[in-house]
Amino acid sequence: MIPSLDPSQTQSPNSASTHSLQGWVQGLRGNNHVQFLQLRTEGKIYQVVAEKEFLGEEVFKQVKGLPQETSLVVFGVAQENEKAPGGQELFLHSFTLVGDSHQYPITPKEHGPDFLHNHRHLWLRSKRQLAIQRVRSELSFAIREFFRNDGYTLIDTPILTGSIGESAGTLFSTEYFDLGQAYLAQTGQLYLETAAFAHSKVYCFGPTFRAEKSKTRRHLTEFWMLEAETAFLGQDGNLDLQERFVKTVLRTTIERTQEDLKALDRDPAPLLEQLGKPFPRVDYGEAIQILKTAGEEITWGEDINSDREQILTTHFGTAIFIQNFPRAIKAFYMKQNPDNAETVLSADLIAPDGIGEIIGGSEREESYEKIVERLKEEGLPPEDYSWYLDLRKYGSVPHAGFGMGLERVIAWVCGLSHIRECIPFPRMIYRLTP
Ligand code: 4AD
Ligand code: MG
Repeated sequence: MIPSLDPSQTQSPNSASTHSLQGWVQGLRGNNHVQFLQLRTEGKIYQVVAEKEFLGEEVFKQVKGLPQETSLVVFGVAQENEKAPGGQELFLHSFTLVGDSHQYPITPKEHGPDFLHNHRHLWLRSKRQLAIQRVRSELSFAIREFFRNDGYTLIDTPILTGSIGESAGTLFSTEYFDLGQAYLAQTGQLYLETAAFAHSKVYCFGPTFRAEKSKTRRHLTEFWMLEAETAFLGQDGNLDLQERFVKTVLRTTIERTQEDLKALDRDPAPLLEQLGKPFPRVDYGEAIQILKTAGEEITWGEDINSDREQILTTHFGTAIFIQNFPRAIKAFYMKQNPDNAETVLSADLIAPDGIGEIIGGSEREESYEKIVERLKEEGLPPEDYSWYLDLRKYGSVPHAGFGMGLERVIAWVCGLSHIRECIPFPRMIYRLTP
């Protein structure tokens, strides 16, 4: 549908039924009598029909010669055309040029991924990229909506921090005045835990940083993470919350982005079917057994890499939780399993189709002594965590939380194999510009 217009923007000399659109020339095709101009306005593409017989030789020639990405204001009348995007097109009466464009580098021909990423600032205008960023926008909105509806309070956690949140191996650090090293946040979790003792139910949603030297399809050095933290919640309730959360926001997003998924050739039906079934909760030990039976040489205690995650999701035919990981390979804040001291009350949610881990979460250790012991094992100075340890002194309660990587979930919804297209300006070990 051609958008109805703010009358103040309609400067056409024609009648009130005239529309105007402001945008950019995405493409142009046709013949010597009629030209079909694809105009991008507000991120959507509308068809503008230019007829020589109506416009006259001179104006028609100008339209026909408009270079890709010229910016324009067009005036005309809306008419039905079932072949046009949205079932309507604009029959052109006149136009005014706003900005020239010369030799726009991204043409309809095939370009390699490197070329496109070097031109990311322009590539964002392409059809598939418009669709992906709209899915991102809707998913982000659905996430905030979910937590607001569930009574959670948004807590904005700091990006510059003095304490290491996850692991010392993957930190970006910078000099911080006279106070030594500051780190870019790997997680907002520790701060969120403190806020959970104030508000009971809290979440944060923002950029997080990992100086990971992984060149995989699933790693960025800067990515967005949704984290939630809930007081008086155990690990089973934490998994119930995660499952309800993921299913709700995915269904909402799919419903609101049907046109975009079509533009990405993504049929959401199989994903919606998966979301209709429970996510199996598989014990880490059981996962190791399944992998061994599948011929993998893996022993209890090892982490489960992405290839093996895929073997497991294929085995179950859906997303799965892997729970109760070995204590030695997980972060210091995870609660020791009262039924098996070698494991922690943690779980990762693994998405199928090669997407892999989308959520990491756990119940949090309540014992002051046990956290201090684990910090020391990790080589982290307990005095840097005195504020965090205070939680275990003043009204400690069972609590649990999780973090979900936004870009991996976008890749899952859109059916993309690489997460670098899921963020407007990806940061990877070999890319810092544009
Ligand atoms: O499993 P992670 O490291 O968990 C935490 O940071 C916890 N503090 C969260 C919490 O309990 N509040 O990261 C959580 C999720 C992963 O499951 C993954 O989806 C995503 O963040 N993630 C990445 N996404 C893109 N690039 C990377 N380098 C990522 N590292 C983690
Ligand atoms: Mg993890």
